Amino acid sequence: MMRLDKYLCETGFGTRSQVKALLKKGLVTVNGGIVKKPEYKVDETKDQVTCMGKQASYTAFTYLMMNKPSGVVCATEDRKDRTVLDLLPAEQRKDLFPAGRLDKDTEGLLLLTDDGALAHRLLSPARHVDKTYYARIRGEVTEVHQEKFLEGLEIGEKKPTLPAVLTIQKSGPESEVYVTVQEGKFHQIKRMFHAVGCEVVYLKRLSMGALTLDERLKPGEYRELMKNELDALKERKTDEGR
Ligand code: URA
Repeated sequence: MMRLDKYLCETGFGTRSQVKALLKKGLVTVNGGIVKKPEYKVDETKDQVTCMGKQASYTAFTYLMMNKPSGVVCATEDRKDRTVLDLLPAEQRKDLFPAGRLDKDTEGLLLLTDDGALAHRLLSPARHVDKTYYARIRGEVTEVHQEKFLEGLEIGEKKPTLPAVLTIQKSGPESEVYVTVQEGKFHQIKRMFHAVGCEVVYLKRLSMGALTLDERLKPGEYRELMKNELDALKERKTDEGR
C-alpha cells in the first residue's frame, strides 16, 4: 500500500505539489470514485487509479531526467571522478545507469533508467534518434558550416557523419549555435566542429528523441519523467532505417 500522492508522483503525474493540486481539483479517481486526500492509501497492485482521465500504471522501472552538470562522468562507477549516480541518494540509485554518454564537461539532458530495453532502443545507431545541443564555439560559424554539416563531415570514422542541422544563433569570434545530430559517436559534436576548424567551448544537450530537458532543472538536479514524456519516448517511431 502506498499514499496516493506518492503513487501519482511515481507514475509520472508530476511533483508532490503538482499532484496535490490535481487531487484538490477532483481530477483523480480510485476504482471509479473521486479521491481528494493525498494520504489516501492505494494498493498499487490492484487499485485502478486515473488522473485527468488517464490510467495510472505502476511501472517497475525508474526513469529520471537529469540536467547533468559539468565535472561528473556518465558511468555507474569510476575510480577517479564523481559519476552522475553519485548525485543521487543511495536509495534511489538501485540499478540505474545513464542511457548514453555525455562528456565530463558537457551539461544537459541525461536519462537515467534501469529499463535496458528502452535505453537500447534510444541508443541503437540504426534508429537515428535526433539529439539537439546548444553550443558555444570559438570561431566564426557561417552558412558554409551549415552546408558542410548537412552534407556530412569526415571525422575519422569509416563513413562521414549523417546530415546534421546547424542553426546559427550568433556568429562572431565566439559563435552560438544549435546542432541536431542523428548519431551519438564519441565526442561527435566536438569532432565535427574540429573538422571545420572551430572549437567547442561549451556544450549542453537539450533534447533526445521525444524528450526535452526541463529547463527548470538546475545543473545536478533531476526528476522523474512525467507519464506523457515516458509515453512519447516509448511510442516514438524512431525512423529506423531512414
Ligand atoms: N558530442 C560531444 O562532443 N560531446 C558530448 O558530450 C556529446 C556530443
